[in-house]
Amino acid sequence: MRADAGTALRGEPVGWDEEQGLWQVTGFDEASAVLRGDGWSSDPRRLPFAPPELAEFPPGVLLFMDPPDHTRMRRLLSPAFTPRAVESLRPRVAEIVEAALTGLGDEADLLREVAYLVPVAVIAELLDVGEEGAGLLLDITPDLVRMLEIDAGSEDLVVSAAASAELMMFLTPLLAERRRRPGGDFISAMLAVPDGLTLDEIASTCVLLLAAGHETTANLIANSVLALLRDPSQRPHLLADPVRSVEELLRVEGPVRQVVRTALTDHRLGGRDVRAGEVVRVHLDEVGRGQGPLDLARGPLPHLAFGGGMHYCLGAALARMEAVETLPRLVARFPGMTLRSHEWRDSSTFHALTGLRVAGLMRG
Ligand code: HEM
Repeated sequence: MRADAGTALRGEPVGWDEEQGLWQVTGFDEASAVLRGDGWSSDPRRLPFAPPELAEFPPGVLLFMDPPDHTRMRRLLSPAFTPRAVESLRPRVAEIVEAALTGLGDEADLLREVAYLVPVAVIAELLDVGEEGAGLLLDITPDLVRMLEIDAGSEDLVVSAAASAELMMFLTPLLAERRRRPGGDFISAMLAVPDGLTLDEIASTCVLLLAAGHETTANLIANSVLALLRDPSQRPHLLADPVRSVEELLRVEGPVRQVVRTALTDHRLGGRDVRAGEVVRVHLDEVGRGQGPLDLARGPLPHLAFGGGMHYCLGAALARMEAVETLPRLVARFPGMTLRSHEWRDSSTFHALTGLRVAGLMRG
């Protein structure tokens, strides 16, 4: 079992975990202070327990960058994720969802047959990588995301680097082609920025978008379906107000459990002294759930499911839209659906399923 906050927390908003040699942060204000404050690094190479393989990991991954490099790169990428850009994808997402639902038998694994298909199709569309690209993504994502595991060990990194290399091999000729003949896609937009990103940075960004955007959104959808199967009384509220319901589902069922930071300076946090060089784990899941139980009738309570501050999720609007387009369609179409079985992934980073078998999909 991978490590988590466990008993080290004992209800404190900030607690020193003797066993792991780091700070566990579960208080809302304290978590926000870390995410929004200065003097914290997201670079995994700074972690005192970083495996040696990390030194060779490709640079230019936004999520793991600190200012000023992060600031420059984020400014270049942000325009692709404006509400307008996201809205333009909505009709296509609706089509993708309808097609996925129409193809279902009476019993299905909704994780594989719905939840994964939607974000992969969206990203493939965004980058315009075609069917071949989408297929490759579906195959290699489980390996690729192992680099995002907080407890990534040497084996995780080797597997993830191999998946990343496979994706790079697919992307390199595509990048060259787009440079010659630009299209309306995101890769062409990145290439077109004057004094913009290097080819390596663009390739790393594509890998990050695929790793960070696909798995997370799929799991938000699947976790939410499970919550609605377990408590059918919530379903009418989802149908009445999908936008606010997705927000509440993010709070309790958000797929990212924790993020990690290394202190660059001394900090006073929740009445404790965090020294430069020490590590904090920010438990986004506990911060959200600490507010109360899931209640779609009441509406959303505050959460940090997308993080906060300078690394706030770039794909948040896109992920929300995908969930809003998927969940009500599924619930409205299959009122008779029941849970057959489900299995959680063993991960301290992701609140995620490995399977979600559901029956009663014909009787809808
Ligand atoms: C960053 C969560 C979907 C792209 C983050 C962070 C969180 C997060 C918590 C901040 C990590 C940190 O502070 O260390 C989620 C959740 C999603 C989701 C819960 C779905 C429900 C997406 C999608 C995309 C995306 C769909 C893009 C297609 C990114 C990128 C970053 C990021 C590029 C890095 C931002 C930066 O470092 O400045 N996400 N994400 N995410 N996310 Fe998401």
